Amino acid sequence: RTIMDFNNLKKKKVPITMLTAHDYPSARFIESIAPPAPAPGSSPASAGSSTSPAPRGIDIALVGDSLAMVACGYPSTNYLTLDEMLYHCRSVARGCTTSFLVADLPFGSFSASVEDGVRAAVRLIQEGHMDAVKIEGGPEIVPLVRRLTEVGIPVMAHVGLTPQRQAALSGYRVQGKTVSSAVKVWEDARAVQDAGAFAVVLEAVPSKLAAWVTERLRIPTIGIGAGAGCDGQVLVQSDMLGVDSDLGAGGKGPRFLKKYADVGERAREAVRSYVDEVRRRVFPTEGEHTYPIEDKAWEGFLE
Ligand code: KIV
Ligand code: NA
Repeated sequence: RTIMDFNNLKKKKVPITMLTAHDYPSARFIESIAPPAPAPGSSPASAGSSTSPAPRGIDIALVGDSLAMVACGYPSTNYLTLDEMLYHCRSVARGCTTSFLVADLPFGSFSASVEDGVRAAVRLIQEGHMDAVKIEGGPEIVPLVRRLTEVGIPVMAHVGLTPQRQAALSGYRVQGKTVSSAVKVWEDARAVQDAGAFAVVLEAVPSKLAAWVTERLRIPTIGIGAGAGCDGQVLVQSDMLGVDSDLGAGGKGPRFLKKYADVGERAREAVRSYVDEVRRRVFPTEGEHTYPIEDKAWEGFLE
């Protein structure tokens, strides 16, 4: 997957798929649905001319700083350091070799100066083995987006609800519901596009506004809580898997979160069964989970 592919998908109105990963297993889940590489010598045109679209896995794997909460148990993304992010990036890169890899620049790693931001981004590429970085913000990140684009580090921007500013925004609130805040979402998106961003995440904005912005931008929009009018969608993998059983339907998760599985509940049942079987000495089962002695003389010695 390349940036050119994402532009073509936007042009052809084929939705771009993005999902987060934060460690080796979650990266392997993404990799496991990647279509097999085309046989050498087979023409890519034949796949495009069939009636059904060519099979695709996840186009973009995001090492999002939401891992601060879902993988580290921090109360917000702002506790995550660049070094912690790098550790997660390397694990994801080992598991996920076909999707385009993007990682968040953590809170604070780009706030003091453009130079700080460039150094942090270089580390995500060089030590974290990412293809691109994602940065939250509008006009205030323009000098950094421009510099990174100049030196060849692709930038995905992130506007609308920007969780790194949740304290300043008075919580995780939908953005763009009033005219003035809708104008801000549009102006932020325009600013980062014009600075060179190759795509932009629109988080928690009304679907009509997201569709309007998507039509007017040259670059693809990736929505989360922004409706189907975006050029692509993203979700946090552990949220959509239902790893935390308190989140989602009926829980405290956001409205835009759809749970595709109940992994947390399944895990809880498994742990409960294990404890129960150990206590009842049902597990391990002799013969099935145990090793026999092969030397009969030695076996006799034990009796
Ligand atoms: O950190 C994250 O997972 C994100 C996505 C939800 C866009 O930024
Ligand atoms: Na993020």
